[in-house]
Amino acid sequence: MHGRMLAIESSCDETAAAVVERTEAGELAVLSNIVASQHDLHQRYAGVVPEIASRAHLEKILPVIHEALASAKLKLCHVDAVSVGIRPGLIGSLLVGVSAAKAIAWSLSKPFFGIDHVEAHLWSGLLGQSAAEFPALGLVVSGGHTSLFHLDSQMTPTLLGSTIDDAVGEAFDKAAFMLGLPHPGGPHLEQLARGGNPQAHAFPLAQTDALQFSFSGLKTAMLYAVRGVPAGRGKSSHFTRSHRDLPQGAKADLAASFQRAAIASVLRRLREAHARYPCKTLCVGGGVVANQALRHELMVFAVERNIALRMPPQEYCVDNAAMIGGAAWMRIVRGDAGDPLTMPAQPNSALASAPTMRGTR
Ligand code: KG4
Ligand code: ZN
Repeated sequence: MHGRMLAIESSCDETAAAVVERTEAGELAVLSNIVASQHDLHQRYAGVVPEIASRAHLEKILPVIHEALASAKLKLCHVDAVSVGIRPGLIGSLLVGVSAAKAIAWSLSKPFFGIDHVEAHLWSGLLGQSAAEFPALGLVVSGGHTSLFHLDSQMTPTLLGSTIDDAVGEAFDKAAFMLGLPHPGGPHLEQLARGGNPQAHAFPLAQTDALQFSFSGLKTAMLYAVRGVPAGRGKSSHFTRSHRDLPQGAKADLAASFQRAAIASVLRRLREAHARYPCKTLCVGGGVVANQALRHELMVFAVERNIALRMPPQEYCVDNAAMIGGAAWMRIVRGDAGDPLTMPAQPNSALASAPTMRGTR
């Protein structure tokens, strides 16, 4: 089974297309991976505005697909199958990519694969890597999802736990907003944290059930640390200072301490999952895996336990279409012929926690 997969992703604020080839030797090669980000459009709202996102997807979807084909030096007629992120996500955004993918698959009479976005993040570390050994644990940490999985030899993910409030990337974004950093704040907060003392503030770790995550308490602790505990009560409650009143060094300390607490919270659940479900491989993915401090902790975790770590390079951490193509190829290899063109886009996924609005306030 070999050929070229055109993959499309439009579930949130990235319009992406990629060509992923499976060679005769069974290797997955990413021939192109184009991502058009809408961050500048959502910047002034400090969060993703669904209507703006879907309109921008409409404008960018065809140019992005053409660019993915052109940079792979291919024409549409060279495509053997089409895949798309079909759930979960903003429904207006999903529909743009899904409609384009279905139209292309139909016009070429090629197989169509509707891929779960969370599952694609989960397998993104396998792109260009040798197959994983099972059983495995999976961790997806992104702006929309924070989930732990157990993976059996059939590569069927079983959700062990997820966040009961914010996703970890969302918490990074909100903490960054509190510090006056641009959206999406995760990478900016990481940058600021480099100059700070991670021990400066002892932020709390959530006391949830062992395999569940929670970041709202950390977020509130961060808010009070930045702006002070609000004075007054009820309607007259107000903050006495803003991030502008803090010297740069104090902001860096807050960023570093927040990052340390958020990562410690993730690692604590991972340790608990490993104690309950010993594994040979750890598959991680999602935008927050782009964070160098988290990558380091994950590497240490895996080395100490003699577990193979499947962690994507940074370009496949944040939303992209190569991971969609990779996940579709894995289905083909398992003998899957594809999905009907009647398959609907869906805002939710059984692999994700309840969807949250990704605003920042
Ligand atoms: O996977 P992704 O692109 O979108 C979702 O599926 O949600 O993840 C985006 C999230 C954002 O919250 C962003 O701030 C966060 O990943 N992120 C980071 C870093 N790079 C991206 N968080 C912390 N440190 C980073 N370096
Ligand atoms: Zn994602």
